[in-house]
Amino acid sequence: MAGSNMDATLDAIAHGAALLRDGDLVAFPTETVYGLGADATSAASVQSLFAAKGRPTNNPLIAHVADTDAALGEALFDHRAERLAEKFWPGPLTLVLPRRDDSRLAPEVSAGLLTVALRVPDHPVAGALLSQAGRPIAAPSANPSGQLSPTTAAHVADSLGDRIALVLDGGPCPVGLESTVVGLAGKARLLRPGGLTRTVIEAEIGPLAAPDDDILHAPGMMASHYAPTLPLRLNAEQPRAGEALLGFGSCDDATLNLSTTGNLVEAAANLYAMLHALDRAEFSAIAVTKIPNRGVGIAINDRLRRGAAAVTVQAKRA
Ligand code: TXA
Ligand code: MG
Repeated sequence: MAGSNMDATLDAIAHGAALLRDGDLVAFPTETVYGLGADATSAASVQSLFAAKGRPTNNPLIAHVADTDAALGEALFDHRAERLAEKFWPGPLTLVLPRRDDSRLAPEVSAGLLTVALRVPDHPVAGALLSQAGRPIAAPSANPSGQLSPTTAAHVADSLGDRIALVLDGGPCPVGLESTVVGLAGKARLLRPGGLTRTVIEAEIGPLAAPDDDILHAPGMMASHYAPTLPLRLNAEQPRAGEALLGFGSCDDATLNLSTTGNLVEAAANLYAMLHALDRAEFSAIAVTKIPNRGVGIAINDRLRRGAAAVTVQAKRA
């Protein structure tokens, strides 16, 4: 079905909720990135979502819910999970928790695992859509698998528009990086750095361990993700001939600058939009200046490294 972009008015959101209940795919804004939504209680809808993204079906999805009460119906919350939910939901935090036996989620959402990833997004359009859909919505980032995440409705329409029923346009995403994924089925682990910093999470529940050897169970952690079409060159000091330069802080040669004042939160909000903007055939590569590895800079560097690794892998295969 050819998709259409609609401003996220109340009528459009109601239309989106009806499409989701009918099993269609609807892209919508969250505070992190645009999500590609499907009814998480319907195996058929979730399968069509994997197909539209070209996503391997062993890579589990995040189920988005309107509030913590709705999340409690799908997973078992211990005191750590309760604490993080109370402190950071709605917000850019995903909790991986033991699935309840009576969870309504289609098993495909969690790729057959005994855990589920849950998140309450902090965006008025996402919140209204989830309340009106009246069920959990599975939503990965609304991009073809492995490619750059979308932070505007136009990014979604350009890459997936012909495969989805509707894109709700709620403007650019304010955080600009995917949620932080914390595993709480056992030892607390940081499975993916993201929009919420490790420091504030650790202040609530103590130290977070690294992902364990089950790393393939969180394939967002695989190297080949978040990649532009052009090669990415990291920690660049100057652009080489033909390269675009994505700068940070004072940087005279920058083609675009993530934050001229050196503000990492602003840089995160700009990251994907600027990579999309520079990913053009007139350049040979995108060089990126050094980004400080603190605060949300850790998640920025994580995405840049994975994007650079993916292009290297593709180039080697070619
Ligand atoms: O900000 C976000 O999280 C966005 C917006 C749309 O909410 N969504 C997003 O979804 O980034 P996605 O599918 O691109 O990333 C989900 C991540 C993946 O790394 C996946 O492997 C991991 O969560 N994940 C999901 N369920 C899991 C589970 N049961 N165990 C371990 N990791 C899981
Ligand atoms: Mg993604």
